[in-house]
Amino acid sequence: MNIDAIIDQLGGASAVQALLGVGPSAVSNYRIRGAFPEYARVKIWQALKARGVQVDPETLELIGAVAEASSPQTTASTAASSTASSAASSGGVTAPSILLIISGGIAAYKALELIRRMKDKGWQVRVIMTKGGAQFVTPLSVSALSGEKTYTDLFSLTDEAEMGHIRLARDADLVVVAPATANIMARMAQGMSDDLATTAVLATGAPILIAPAMNPHMWANPATRANAETLKSRGMRIIGPDSGDTACGEEGAGRLVDPMAILSMAEQMLPGQTPLKNRRIVVTSGPTHEPIDGVRYIANRSSGKQGQAIAEVLARHGAEVTLISGPVDLPPPAGADVIRVTTAKEMLSATLNALPADAVICAAAVADWAVDGAGKAKLKKTPGQPPALTFVENPDILATISGHPQRPKLVVGFAAETETPVAHGDDKRRRKGCDWILANDVGAEAPVFGADDNQVHFITAKGAVTWPRMTKHAVAEHLATEMIKELTHG
Ligand code: C5P
Repeated sequence: MNIDAIIDQLGGASAVQALLGVGPSAVSNYRIRGAFPEYARVKIWQALKARGVQVDPETLELIGAVAEASSPQTTASTAASSTASSAASSGGVTAPSILLIISGGIAAYKALELIRRMKDKGWQVRVIMTKGGAQFVTPLSVSALSGEKTYTDLFSLTDEAEMGHIRLARDADLVVVAPATANIMARMAQGMSDDLATTAVLATGAPILIAPAMNPHMWANPATRANAETLKSRGMRIIGPDSGDTACGEEGAGRLVDPMAILSMAEQMLPGQTPLKNRRIVVTSGPTHEPIDGVRYIANRSSGKQGQAIAEVLARHGAEVTLISGPVDLPPPAGADVIRVTTAKEMLSATLNALPADAVICAAAVADWAVDGAGKAKLKKTPGQPPALTFVENPDILATISGHPQRPKLVVGFAAETETPVAHGDDKRRRKGCDWILANDVGAEAPVFGADDNQVHFITAKGAVTWPRMTKHAVAEHLATEMIKELTHG
């Protein structure tokens, strides 16, 4: 639908001015440019929807029944917009709500730029400032940019009456702490709730992004490093800090990263964002069972939790996920197509059938051997004569996919090692021809099989990065971040 038609549908220029809170010259500019600014699209989409006009929230093109009654040109957009249409009608497209926490530090002024950028995206931004934060920028300037009240006090009667601190935390789709001082990171790591900011962090169910900014020595201090690792291991993401001159006159890592970088990471972390849309990803998971006879089998201790977490997280990022799972005792993960298999051979053929794909993640603990000549009939127990089993080697799914003519752009394997996981993991990466290996030390004191936590070394051709011990879900999130970089920017 062209811009003039949209303005007409909304009741004319003055109605659009009132809707967007802009003057007449802004509306004329939109007409000249033939487009509304990005931040206005959600409002326009909502206003049109309220008037019974169904448009694609991204392109503002007509969709559905209305399109049939309009020009052939707009009808052509119907098919392309059908996904957006179903997202919109299922309530999937609403302006995301961000809870921004500004803690004390000279970099707090950059949070103002961040708010502006978030508002340009059409996001709702509610801000909590710590006492320190309010020393560097005023709640008034923050409110002028966010268009919302700025919250500072945990025990404010008026605030509680308008928007209780729990609701402030629970309503957010994403919490961003920027700038984050060493102090707020320490309090968050300890699970403290001694002000409104830390209380909200503790109460929220939303993902949390932290952008630290502090003196380089404070950042390098083992206490801050340990706090950062703790926060990461709980699934929070940390962006930066950057290196360079800091306000305190010292050089090193401590500068707040560019607000645009925070914005783009925030965008990626927002639930419902789909950076992996149109990407097909196959995940193998769980153990395989290799029959000895019709009733007995050989298995291993894999629970399938890591593979399922990966499938679920990738699906949440918009990928079309096929999970090929051996026998596990877990409910199917949300959003993925699940193909259940039993043996390694079945897993291989299901994986090959799922090609072509953009990526294959082999997280399954595939049995290395199958029992030669296993039949359906139960082997008879003859006292004093245990059967002699002979084994045949199972196909290596990871190596097969890595060398396949339809090899996906990205092939990822796991390596459970009992010693020197990085060296062995890298060796496995080369031998099997995959791109990345996530190696974990299963000989370490903390268990991996069946546990909810995992400690992974992320190994690529560029080297190895040791991720802190974290939940399997957080490992899946970290892997998804790397995959998004590789599949969408690489
Ligand atoms: O050789 P190893 O079992 O240590 O290799 C582990 C990696 O290889 C995992 O990614 C696993 O899913 C994959 N693998 C496979 N098929 C096999 C054996 C292992 O895909 N037969």
